[in-house]
Amino acid sequence: MPAPPALTESHRYVFDSLKTSEVEEDSESARLDAVHTAFTAYFSGNLIPPPLDDRPGWKPVKILELGCGHGSWAIHAAKQYPEAEIIAIDIADAPKRPLPPNVRFIRADMTKDLPSLFPSPISFDLIHIRFVLTHLPQHTAQSVIRTAARLLTPSGGGGGGGGLLLLEEGDTTNTLLTSGPAGNKFWRVFHVLCADADVGSKLSGYLRGCRAELPLEVKEYVLFMPAHSNGDDQALTNLGTEFHQFVMRTARLVAQRSATRHTNADEEAGFTEELLDEYEAEVASAECKAEHAVYFCSARRLPV
Ligand SMILES: C[S@@+](CC[C@H](N)C(=O)[O-])C[C@H]1O[C@@H](n2cnc3c(N)ncnc32)[C@H](O)[C@@H]1O
Repeated sequence: MPAPPALTESHRYVFDSLKTSEVEEDSESARLDAVHTAFTAYFSGNLIPPPLDDRPGWKPVKILELGCGHGSWAIHAAKQYPEAEIIAIDIADAPKRPLPPNVRFIRADMTKDLPSLFPSPISFDLIHIRFVLTHLPQHTAQSVIRTAARLLTPSGGGGGGGGLLLLEEGDTTNTLLTSGPAGNKFWRVFHVLCADADVGSKLSGYLRGCRAELPLEVKEYVLFMPAHSNGDDQALTNLGTEFHQFVMRTARLVAQRSATRHTNADEEAGFTEELLDEYEAEVASAECKAEHAVYFCSARRLPV
C-alpha cells in the first residue's frame, strides 16, 4: 500500500479546533464514546443495525472506517471481529488511546486521498462512515460515497457475497418541525456550522445513484428518537436523550470556545450559553415533542 499522503492546510474539519486543548480532546472523545455505546446498546451490541443486517453472524475480514474520530467504532469492531484487519482513517491526528493490534490508523482526507491510498484491486468487506458526511459539502459527500462503494469487495468477503457499506448520519428536518422556538433557533445555527445538517435523508439516494456503475442492494432504516425524557418507548427514549446530550455537548464546546477565545466566525457565536439554556429548558418541559432523526443506510455489493 502506498505511503499516506501529506496533509495540507486545506484538509480541514469544521469542528477541528474543538480538540485544541487536552480538556476539549477528552470531552470530544467522551461524547463520541457515549453516543457509540448508546447506539450499540440499542442494537443489542451489534455494529450493524439489525434491520440492515442481511447476514447475521457474518464475519468481515477487511474493514475500513472513514472519519474514525477517537476510534469508538473501530475499537469495538476490532473486538467484535478479532480476525479482521481494520484500517481507520481520519483527517485529524490518531486517537490518543492505545488501539488494538488489528487496527491501523492512517491520517488522510477521505475527500481526496482514497484512490491513491487504495488503488485497485484493494477492497473491503465492510466500510463504515458515521457522523462525518454532515461536515462535507454535498458534492464531496456524494463522491466519497461513490469512491467507498467502489472499494467494496465484489465477492468472497468473509463468508461469501460482496462487501457492505454502512452509513450513519443525522438529519434535522424532523427536529426542526417538532421543536419549539428555542430549538428552531438552535438548529438554524447548527445548519450554518454543518456543511449539510440534513444529509441523512439523502444517503439512500446517493447510494442508489451508484447503481449505474455497481450492482448494489440499498437499504434504509431511520430512527426517530425523542429528545425529551417523556417518550413511550423506554429504550428509544434512553437513546434519544443520550443523542440529545451528544448534540448539546458539541454545542457547549462551541459556545465556550466562542466565549473564551473571541476568535471564531460570527456564526459560531450563535451558540451562546443563553440559547443553549433556553433550548435545554424547552426540551425539559412537559409539552416538548422534539425528536431527533438518525438515518442508517447500507449498500451490499451484489455478484454480477
Ligand atoms: C463527529 S466526528 C465522528 C467520529 C466517528 N465517526 C464516530 O462516530 O465516533 C467526525 C470525524 O470526521 C473527521 N473528518 C472530517 N472531515 C474529514 C475528511 N475530509 N477526511 C477524514 N476525516 C474527516 C473529523 O476529523 C472527525 O474525527
